[in-house]
Amino acid sequence: MSLPSPASDRTAVVTGASSGIGAEIARELARRGQGVTLVARREEKLTALAKELSGLGVRAEVLPTDLSDRTARASLLERVVELGLTPEILVNNAGFSTTGPVARSDPAAEMMMIEVDVVAVADLCSRFLPGMVERGRGAILNVASTGAFQPLPGQAGYGAGKAFVLSYTHSLIGELRRTGVTATALCPGPVHTEFAAAAGLTREQSESALPGFMWETAESVAKTGVSALAKGRAVAIPGAVNLAGSMVGHYTPRRFLVPLLASRHPSLPK
Ligand SMILES: NC(=O)c1ccc[n+]([C@@H]2O[C@H](COP(=O)([O-])OP(=O)(O)OC[C@H]3O[C@@H](n4cnc5c(N)ncnc54)[C@H](OP(=O)(O)O)[C@@H]3O)[C@@H](O)[C@H]2O)c1
Repeated sequence: MSLPSPASDRTAVVTGASSGIGAEIARELARRGQGVTLVARREEKLTALAKELSGLGVRAEVLPTDLSDRTARASLLERVVELGLTPEILVNNAGFSTTGPVARSDPAAEMMMIEVDVVAVADLCSRFLPGMVERGRGAILNVASTGAFQPLPGQAGYGAGKAFVLSYTHSLIGELRRTGVTATALCPGPVHTEFAAAAGLTREQSESALPGFMWETAESVAKTGVSALAKGRAVAIPGAVNLAGSMVGHYTPRRFLVPLLASRHPSLPK
C-alpha cells in the first residue's frame, strides 16, 4: 500500500485545514509531494497556508466552505473538479466539540457539531468514494479521537460522534477490499490546537483534566496519521500512552468508567 502518486492535476482535499491538526496534515502531505486543496471557513488562514505550501513546489488550492451547510458541502467535489483536479486523497479532519451536560446544552450547537463531526464525514465519503473506486485508487483519512473508544460525559455528542467515525471507517475498510482504495481512522488523544478554546475550555482546564504525558503536538499527530494512511493502516493512535488509554477506555466496564470520567470532566459539577 502507498499513497496515490502525486501529479499536478491530482489533489488531497483536507478539511479543517485552517488550524491545528488539519493544517499539519496538509503540511505533511505537501512535504510528500502531494498537491492539496484546503477547506475550512476562515479563508485568510487557508490562503496563508496555501502560499506557504506552494513554496514546497506543490499546487495548493483554497476552497472556503462551511461544512455545516449541506448545500455548500454538496458542491465541494464539483468545485475541486472545476479547478481541473482529481481528488485522490480525502482527509475528513474538520471538527469541534461542545462541552457541558446535555441537560444544559444549546440544541442548535449540538446539531451543528453533529452536522460537522458526523454528517459531513459520511456525506463527503459518499460523494468522493465513487470516483476513487472507479479510478481504482484513492485514500481516505477520517479523524476520530481516542474518545471514540469510550463514552465522554461532558462531551456526550462529541464522543458518540467520534465513535461513529471510527465504526464507519472500519466498515469502509471492509467494503473497499480489492478496490485499490484505502480508509484509515486517526484517533488522537489531547493535542494543543484551537480545539479547547472552540469548546469553551481554557488551556488550564483542559490540562488539569488530562495529564501532561498524554499530550501530543499537532505535527506529530499529523505525521502519524499520514504515515498510517500511506501504509493503508486501519487505525492510528498517536502516542503509546494514548494507545494504552484507549484500550483501557474500551474494555473497562461502563459502571466503573463513566462515573470516574464524569467526576473529572472540567465542564461538569464536582
Ligand atoms: N485537539 C485535540 O485534542 C483533538 C483530539 C482528538 C481529536 N481531535 C480532532 O481533530 C480534528 C481537528 O481538530 P484540531 O484539534 O486541529 O482543532 P482546531 O485547531 O480547532 O481545528 C478545527 C478545524 O475544523 C474547522 N471547522 C470547524 N467547524 C467547521 C465548519 N463548520 N466548516 C468547515 N470547517 C470547520 C476549523 O476551521 P474554521 O474555523 O476556519 O472553519 C479548523 O480548521 C477534529 O476533528 C477534532 O475533533 C482533536
